[in-house]
Amino acid sequence: LGDGPLKGRRVLVTSGPTHEPIDPVRYIANRSSGAQGSALGHALAALGADVTFVTGPAEVPPPAGVDVVRVETAREMLAATEAALPVDAAIFAAAVADWHVAGSEQKIKKTGTTPVLEFSENPDILARVAQRDRDRPRLVVGFAAETENVLAHAEAKRTRKGCDWIVANDVSPATGIMGGTENAVTLITETGAEEWPRAGKADVARRLAERIADALGPA
Ligand code: C5P
Repeated sequence: LGDGPLKGRRVLVTSGPTHEPIDPVRYIANRSSGAQGSALGHALAALGADVTFVTGPAEVPPPAGVDVVRVETAREMLAATEAALPVDAAIFAAAVADWHVAGSEQKIKKTGTTPVLEFSENPDILARVAQRDRDRPRLVVGFAAETENVLAHAEAKRTRKGCDWIVANDVSPATGIMGGTENAVTLITETGAEEWPRAGKADVARRLAERIADALGPA
């Protein structure tokens, strides 16, 4: 770690799921393991980047050689992300919950009536960072985990959120990608879509880190 094409570059990575509390003992989560985000943090640090790694409660441990900021909820992830700016590049690999509920201060008890959860939308961390006017990172990369019309949905997401690149993947259960060790992605940039062969998450991370280094150029 230390030397390499990203030496002197500050890169932010978000990773893992978020947990949205229902009450002090219960939460809503998703199946993200944090594997692709950790592999990416490792690959960026291996190319010499100064990496801030903002992670939700992931199964896979964060990589060595990065500054780890642990968060639980999407709102905490937004705050930690904004606190890490300015950066040269920001990669949003986290599977952020779309909603949170108005969490109860006390454990919800069985009372005979079933509780009703009211959902409120979480901030879109990627969109907020991509649309900053003063200190927008030069390169903003999002992920799009889809189960159908992957390319169309991912390209629409790139435009709507205002990021530069989208790493699109098919997370249909049959692919075994979510929670698995391999990934098959299509990189969507300003100039088009490139389908990458299915490979280990570490290989996908290395390839993406190299592309990020090429895009930023020498420091
Ligand atoms: O809209 P969707 O969740 O599919 O977008 C996925 C991309 O947006 C990922 O890069 C994810 O990390 C990011 N995102 C975010 N904050 C949210 C929702 C998604 O940063 N609240």
